[in-house]
Amino acid sequence: MTSGRLGSDTTNLDPWHDSYAARTAGLSASEVRALFAVASRPEVASLAGGMPFVSALPPELVSGAIDRVMREQGPVALQYGSGQGVPKLREQILDVMALEGIRANADDVVVTTGSQHALELIAKLFLDPGDVVLAEGPSYVTALVVFKSFQAAIDHVPMDEHGLIPSALREHIARLRAAGRRMKFLYTVPTFNNPAGLTLSAQRRVEVLEIARENGILVIEDNPYGLLYFEDQPPQAMRSLDSDGVIYLGTFSKTLAPGFRVGWVLAPTAIKDKLVLANEAAVLSPSNFSQLVISEYLASADWRGQIDTFRGLYRERRDAMLSALEEYLPGCEWTVPAGGFYVWLTLPEGLDSRAMLPRAIEQLVAYTPGTAFYSDGDGAANMRLSFCYPTPEFIREGVRRLSIVVNAELALRDAHANLA
Ligand SMILES: Cc1ncc(COP(=O)(O)O)c(C=O)c1O
Repeated sequence: MTSGRLGSDTTNLDPWHDSYAARTAGLSASEVRALFAVASRPEVASLAGGMPFVSALPPELVSGAIDRVMREQGPVALQYGSGQGVPKLREQILDVMALEGIRANADDVVVTTGSQHALELIAKLFLDPGDVVLAEGPSYVTALVVFKSFQAAIDHVPMDEHGLIPSALREHIARLRAAGRRMKFLYTVPTFNNPAGLTLSAQRRVEVLEIARENGILVIEDNPYGLLYFEDQPPQAMRSLDSDGVIYLGTFSKTLAPGFRVGWVLAPTAIKDKLVLANEAAVLSPSNFSQLVISEYLASADWRGQIDTFRGLYRERRDAMLSALEEYLPGCEWTVPAGGFYVWLTLPEGLDSRAMLPRAIEQLVAYTPGTAFYSDGDGAANMRLSFCYPTPEFIREGVRRLSIVVNAELALRDAHANLA
């Protein structure tokens, strides 16, 4: 039952409904959230989440680092720290970024509580209500949630198999400018994009940076997956080509473990100074304990070898997914990711991934509907399939179950068409 004053059953239960700030309007739980609670049951083959397979990380590598930190620097690890992050870790982060062609100064690195928090800080620094954020279509769902919570509008620029399309970016910028809109930044996941698995080609990186520079638009390069390539190394980070116009986000979540909640921003110096202040205002300091453990891990473990192990593991899972798709879902189309965690699937005409999800969960398989990755309702014909967490056998079984649902929907679609 709903009251006249309050909009829905949920708000009806919340006596503080009228007290929330206007910016929380974008913080509504999606309708698929309840289904995902069911989808986390072990009998469900979940191709929905983006959880890294942390069990592939030898526990002694982490416990050894924790022991040494506590023995040698215990009181420091347990104390508040610097708002910019532990200096030694910031130096080590330079070695990680060097693998993607980035040369930088540790003074320009700010450690954050995961790159998710970096997105929040950047949004806080740059976005006023009504500002426009340019983003790939589709784009990382929780970045969209952050931008919307600062009352920004999202403008999705399309991609093809080489990533964001530069001519489309030009057109969108021109159209928005003609309409008098203020564009603050382009948010991009150029390498093994979440959710599409696509990578921006080397030549397009140059073009996109040129377009951004010409138009005075910052580029936010979010790069959690760049080191998780399966064959050739991807093009170098966009930040390696432009140190003034790019804010680069990195994280240890996918190459080590998300439980530490440690990521970082590399920003032009003036922006970095503001980020440190915003970081202090939000969390005082990122976790000293996590940072020192990661620093010790990087100093003492073969972290490059561990990333190689992750690459082999995810490559095997990607291959399991692609071969299962070929076998069971020949009527669909999908991207072939050269790294990362995700395949983006396009359903046959007339099928709707969001409408289909309850039926999929009945068949004990879960995925993320494509609409989650657009702010404008687009993506109904698509879904994101993750291959990072389930075993290759379970991935195969998940795709087999999915094919049962898709075939049943196709039969229904055709029956309707015959009736009409
Ligand atoms: C594109 C992208 N950005 C940011 C994040 C957040 O990562 P973190 O764990 O560092 O907060 C994720 C996590 O899945 C992601 O896929």
